[in-house]
Amino acid sequence: SPEVKKEDENVDDEGKFDHLPQVKTQHGIVLAKYKGFWFNSNLFQSLMSLHKHFEAKDTDIFLATFPKSGTTWLKALVHTIINRPPSPLPENHSGEEIIQSPLLFSNPHQLVPFLENIRFEGGENYYSDDVNRIQIGSRIFSSHMPYQCLPDSILQSNSKIIYLYRNPMDVFASTFAFVLENGFAKLTSVEEEFQLFSNGNQSYGPFWDHILGYWNQSLKAHETDKKRVLFLRYEDLKKDPNPGLKKMAEFLGFPFSVKEEESGMIERIANLCSFENLKNLEVNRKGETETLRFKVKNSSFFRKGEVGDWKNYLTPSMAESFEKLMEEKFAGSGFAM
Ligand code: A3P
Repeated sequence: SPEVKKEDENVDDEGKFDHLPQVKTQHGIVLAKYKGFWFNSNLFQSLMSLHKHFEAKDTDIFLATFPKSGTTWLKALVHTIINRPPSPLPENHSGEEIIQSPLLFSNPHQLVPFLENIRFEGGENYYSDDVNRIQIGSRIFSSHMPYQCLPDSILQSNSKIIYLYRNPMDVFASTFAFVLENGFAKLTSVEEEFQLFSNGNQSYGPFWDHILGYWNQSLKAHETDKKRVLFLRYEDLKKDPNPGLKKMAEFLGFPFSVKEEESGMIERIANLCSFENLKNLEVNRKGETETLRFKVKNSSFFRKGEVGDWKNYLTPSMAESFEKLMEEKFAGSGFAM
């Protein structure tokens, strides 16, 4: 086992990182294991800070994803659903106001902040100033935090969570390309990187428990009649975004009216947020955005946006053994890749 330490329970949150089981990745990054998930020290501090200070509201909306599963897209879609023009529209309007969308001038990550990016104390107080001012009504946040690690404040509130899942092999390909493009780490070979990914040794990993945390919760919600988690697939949205958009709008309590459907509102939102449209906007071709404490080129959030790009990275035999591993990990959960 790569774990070098046992957890020391008698430590306060602030000092906990050094007392958790740890592993050093091949990139020289130290990860600590908290509630079954790996975090680097920055993310761990963010998590502790969220636990301590974040106050969820019942009207909050959380967009949860494993990194590189379509977070940017989900942010664009949900922000547009929530902020679309009121319905019914006044007689002389056609719904074209959507053309005024802030997405035309801001990268989706600038419109929907990551919980992990919120600073509660000192310096730049993003939370109390910007977030509350920009988002009147329903606040939308995103996070890569596993369900199992969310702050009690979120778990105990009546807020809603949308989880977007993507084929992990495409997640791997997307991550590999993203890290390479932004120079975040010195990557070794595809084989070694894929091994690390398959072991779950990365921040927010292992991804199978990440998926299962939200999956189980999305099932549980049916039993209690209190649906907290909507579980969506990237591949389904790619095939046809309309059913997913309808599900999201209903789930969030902003369903599309018959009039809106007839006027083509759903298609307009899908087109506005499509990969091709967002990728080609000037705001996304240039500039940088700070996410998860890194400066990231806006353009690198829009790479290919395809299903099955893993085939350009992994051999059929790598894929086969990975699929076997996934079958084991998801056995009995009702979840299938
Ligand atoms: P690829 O690297 O496979 O192209 P995240 O937003 O979680 O970082 O995920 C990024 C992935 O989502 C990238 O995948 C990116 O191209 C894709 N993506 C970004 N915007 C998209 C959109 N509007 N529609 C579909 N995919 C999108």
